[in-house]
Amino acid sequence: MRKILVATEKPFAPVAIKKISKIFEKEEKEYDLVLLENYTDRSQLLQAVADADALIVRSDKVDAEVFDVAPKLKIVVRAGAGYDNVDCSAATAKGVVVMNTPGQNSNAVAELAIGLAILGIREMFSGKPGSELRGRTLGLHGFGYVARNVFRIARALGMKVIVYTRYSKGAAAAIGLKVTKSLEQLYEKSDVVSIHVPARGEHIKSVSYQVMKHLKDGAVIVNTARKEVVNEPDLVKIMEEKPNIKYMSDLTPDCEKEFAEKFSGRYFFTPKKAGAQTAEANINAGVAAAEQIVAFFEKGDTSYQVNK
Ligand code: 3PG
Repeated sequence: MRKILVATEKPFAPVAIKKISKIFEKEEKEYDLVLLENYTDRSQLLQAVADADALIVRSDKVDAEVFDVAPKLKIVVRAGAGYDNVDCSAATAKGVVVMNTPGQNSNAVAELAIGLAILGIREMFSGKPGSELRGRTLGLHGFGYVARNVFRIARALGMKVIVYTRYSKGAAAAIGLKVTKSLEQLYEKSDVVSIHVPARGEHIKSVSYQVMKHLKDGAVIVNTARKEVVNEPDLVKIMEEKPNIKYMSDLTPDCEKEFAEKFSGRYFFTPKKAGAQTAEANINAGVAAAEQIVAFFEKGDTSYQVNK
């Protein structure tokens, strides 16, 4: 009997848990699904994972300490896209496969990005006259699954959409989307910039002063990606220099206090990362994670492995 642990500080919707359970029940008692939801202390995770064969997480931190206490662990699936919370080198060193579930929660995040764009451009519904998205230019910083959904919705709203991407130029060109020559050009031409790059490699702090100085005063920056991709001191500097820029984010920055002191009415942070917090996204990502684990144990399928 293999123990499958679902460890989520921020739980899945109950309907997603039901569907995940059904997948493991189907497999004729080969699997014992254990839920550790809403845990508040890391020691609870360390205790529960000690005899687990597989682990499903969301943004939960899975570092070397977790791998050290879990000698039976074979696979970790991050039910979601960004796997910056999992120490892939530590996993590789222990021979543990790490996977994500790309695309499964992307529509939910995209809808939040558009929601934040509207909140920003409408002056936070404060009563102050705002603007409309129709006819405005949306710049997509990155062109993965979330950005592609944002593109679809933005076009329906009558926005012009441009993109800066290094790795998905073909996909953008295939749908007639203009790819800017540089990140600077994207920021210069956009009324709303929506960030969709992972917290890895060259993307870390890629939203820097050198890039943001090209923004129009009045532009709205939407960040549903990760706080690490923005250079926060540079963001503060640019918001001081351009007094009409807004920053709308699903990630609370480390410089939150400074924002509260200086930029009242020009920012919004969700209280808890909420991009993928829909029943649909939880079902999609949770079920994909469960199916990937079954395929891994039953057929040796490593299709979604990210630590190859
Ligand atoms: C992701 O990377 O898939 C999203 O940021 C969602 O993260 P969450 O599972 O912590 O909500």
